[in-house]
Amino acid sequence: MSGHGTPTPMISHRADPLAGVAKVPGDKSISHRSLILGAMAVGETRISGLLEGEDVLDTAKAMQAFGAEVINHGGGKWSVFGVGVGGFAEPDNVIDCGNSGTGVRLIMGTMATSPISVTFTGDASLNKRPMARVTDPLALFGAQAVGRSGGRLPMTIVGAADPVPVRYVVPVPSAQVKSAVLLAGLNAPGQTVVIEKEATRDHTERMLEGFGAEITTEETEEGRVITLTGRPELKPQVIAVPRDPSSAAFPVCAALITPGSDVLVPGIGLNPTRAGLFTTLREMGADLTYENERVEGGEPVADLRARYSPSMQGIEVPPERAASMIDEYPVLSVVASFARGETMMAGVKELRVKESDRIDAMARGLRANGVAVREGDDWWAVMGLGPEGVPGGGTCESFLDHRIAMSFMVMGMAAQNPVSVDDGGPIATSFPIFEPLMTALGAKFTHA
Ligand code: S3P
Repeated sequence: MSGHGTPTPMISHRADPLAGVAKVPGDKSISHRSLILGAMAVGETRISGLLEGEDVLDTAKAMQAFGAEVINHGGGKWSVFGVGVGGFAEPDNVIDCGNSGTGVRLIMGTMATSPISVTFTGDASLNKRPMARVTDPLALFGAQAVGRSGGRLPMTIVGAADPVPVRYVVPVPSAQVKSAVLLAGLNAPGQTVVIEKEATRDHTERMLEGFGAEITTEETEEGRVITLTGRPELKPQVIAVPRDPSSAAFPVCAALITPGSDVLVPGIGLNPTRAGLFTTLREMGADLTYENERVEGGEPVADLRARYSPSMQGIEVPPERAASMIDEYPVLSVVASFARGETMMAGVKELRVKESDRIDAMARGLRANGVAVREGDDWWAVMGLGPEGVPGGGTCESFLDHRIAMSFMVMGMAAQNPVSVDDGGPIATSFPIFEPLMTALGAKFTHA
């Protein structure tokens, strides 16, 4: 059930000790990029392990609307027959990206340097999110955007007929903005340069290189300088999408707080631009180990083993780590509730413009369950109550945000009283098998 329809209330009751192997789905960021880059290559890109969540399925539909052939072979295996860089056709209809900021922003970048006009929309959450952070740099290429006030969707982008390359310093730590500029740069002549002051997830850079683009990254005093040569012929690839560390966060964190648990979460990418949560949990004293460390498809990968950790302590999470765990703060705040002492999370302003205002959404739900929270514009702090100290018993609003819904379902697994979520529907956007996977480990979820 999607976040677009009738709400699906869910209740999480105290769980049995969690045990077993949690095979989480494919990485959402890499899944979007596999479809988009596949659509811009010439020939057949074969993808296995694609995340079949609503966000990614919306991107697959969009790629078809631009003229690529996208085939679902079943079992996570997909093919994309691309139209080549600059080969996008003008879609007949509005492109609906559902709940997905990554989908809409990356696709806007991809079409912005082609002479086509495209109207984008999304669900009630996406239509509130800021798009100027993407349309501002796309204007430098020559694209024009007209949307609702405040730069919100629905929005029409008129792509540049004669794009020029761009040099752009990304003003916010955002892989979506960086990626939109790089994808636009693919169909601009000459070199497009993107500079980011803080390293964000680098899947676009790695994958562009894999598809045969000329792209370099230099660490300089100015930051990471990424230089892309435009108008390459992208070569189709065979892609095995690794499992998503952001989804792995849920069974891992559930195991750390649920008495008696021992869970293995295999095959998780530990790309340093994504793995900040696991470092943080270990600093808090979590019994979280990396087993069978290896390199797969150029990415460091390990099997994560998480065991019940009753002696975790609150810490100050270094602000410079924020980009590498930006999607994991909601579930970290749940773990922090079961630790002793305060966990301080600073430098996290970006959380306010995600699928929901995640600081506000979590603070409300945590308080409803008896946990004290302090917050400012770009920081928040959670006062831990110790391993058996979280009262629970509250009802939380998920605000059309999958990670808020899943975080509170995790909280209910170890709180003294059940925790309710008003709408679990958005979980399907990124982790459609969340409920059966967690239930198989020992979670007790009911539907009101
Ligand atoms: C993503 C980047 C992040 C993240 C999102 C996925 C991506 O967003 O929150 O879930 O795939 O590039 P920002 O770039 O806005 O930080």
